[in-house]
Amino acid sequence: MRKATSVSQFQVFEDEGAETPAATLSAPDIQTSRPFAISLRGLSKSYRDGMGIHHALDGVNLSLEKGAIHGILGASGAGKTTLLRCLLRLERADAGEVLIEGCNWNTLSDMQLRRERHRVGVIFQHLHLLASRTAAENISLPLEIAGIRKRDREARVAELLEWFGISDKGSEYPAKLSGGQRQRVALARALATAPAILLADEPTSALDTETKLSVLNVLRRIRDEFGVTVLIITHDLQAAEYVCDTLSILSSGRIVESGPTAEVIDSPQTDEARRLFAPSSSPEERSAKASLRGDL
Ligand SMILES: Nc1ncnc2c1ncn2[C@@H]1O[C@H](COP(=O)(O)OP(=O)(O)OP(=O)(O)O)[C@@H](O)[C@H]1O
Ligand SMILES: [Mg+2]
Repeated sequence: MRKATSVSQFQVFEDEGAETPAATLSAPDIQTSRPFAISLRGLSKSYRDGMGIHHALDGVNLSLEKGAIHGILGASGAGKTTLLRCLLRLERADAGEVLIEGCNWNTLSDMQLRRERHRVGVIFQHLHLLASRTAAENISLPLEIAGIRKRDREARVAELLEWFGISDKGSEYPAKLSGGQRQRVALARALATAPAILLADEPTSALDTETKLSVLNVLRRIRDEFGVTVLIITHDLQAAEYVCDTLSILSSGRIVESGPTAEVIDSPQTDEARRLFAPSSSPEERSAKASLRGDL
């Protein structure tokens, strides 16, 4: 369960003079109880392409307990990124509902949505760090957008740099940082406004084993220390197995299995899951996976 946030850690700094304070998140349409961190109901999204209509998401239902680390595992093209985009309302689903801590995001105006988005931090697969900004300035960006005053922004950024162990990198530009350091900057930026939920799209892709392990451990610490609910979208079975409490298998836009990670992996119930877990026929990939399993 979510722990009380401490002033020195994940409290959002409020700018008394700002028009849109980040911390006082007005939450229209909030239900009295907030049973789930995320609840998706019948989420569907289709695209028209040369072949006709393609159902990228086909009635996705998913409910995540607060404080969970949940993985959505699926092959390329399964609909993972589409799910993330529709969840964040970066793209409108054709049908279905997104409830974030009980608040129905379908019904929010654009202004309400901007405020509510502070509840959700995101780390995208390609990080999207701004090359022209230092690490500290990148982390500061969401605080600037939220109208947080400079003094509080600086304090918050310093706190985050320290928590992520990169205090000495604050004035470096992304190009001068290692992959793992860039990942930490992106995570710090995602957490800048003290969200209750963190979404991570392929957070371990293109990382070496050691860096991958350290990023996964950071994700777990974020949940353990701050009670943040973490949703990881990935095709990396080993990473999901290592860090996720629960797992869903997404295939052709549908969730075909969900459950405790070990159960889903040890006793897959569907052909889609079995295919996903099938050992690779490539000796190189097999040996990479074996060494990763050993390390993790
Ligand atoms: N804007 C779009 N227009 C048309 N088709 C799209 C669009 N976005 C996604 N799709 C299609 O929807 C399906 C799901 O795409 P999505 O990017 O969600 O997959 P993914 O699971 O994230 O794959 P990957 O692991 O390769 O990132 C794919 O068949 C893709 O071609
Ligand atoms: Mg994707």
